[in-house]
Amino acid sequence: MQKWIMGGLFFAACAFAVVLLFTLPGKAEVAEENNPTMPQVTLDTASAEAIVQASCITCHGDQLQGGLGPSLQQEGAQHNAEEIYTIVTKGRGQMPSFKDKLAPEEIANVAMWLAEKK
Ligand code: HEC
Repeated sequence: MQKWIMGGLFFAACAFAVVLLFTLPGKAEVAEENNPTMPQVTLDTASAEAIVQASCITCHGDQLQGGLGPSLQQEGAQHNAEEIYTIVTKGRGQMPSFKDKLAPEEIANVAMWLAEKK
């Protein structure tokens, strides 16, 4: 009889653990979506410039002087790398999200490059 109770308790504990397993990462994912964490990369200027040429200058201007989007020439004075990473990853207003177009490491590299422009 006691074995049965212990077994029942063990089963309940397992069920609880499984529920936790499925709900906790869920919440972490939502947080990640709202405030994505920037991967650690070392700044690669050439690659950042190439990505910006290919993806950003249509709206921000070939000298980043602005156009459809605001000037990014002194973006580092406005936002730090993490903030730029979030804006580029999620998009904002007319600014498209690059989550599905660029790798997180590419966005992080561009964000660090822009953050140095002060
Ligand atoms: C389709 C046009 C478009 C493209 C392409 C685009 N942007 Fe933007 N971007 C905008 C607009 C419009 C805004 C202003 C958003 C707002 O009003 O909130 C903006 C805002 C920003 C900001 C915030 C500026 C600030 O100081 O508030 C950053 C940083 C930025 N863009 C970086 C980039 C980068 C990096 C790329 C390329 C990977 C890029 N953008 C591509 C249109 C674009």
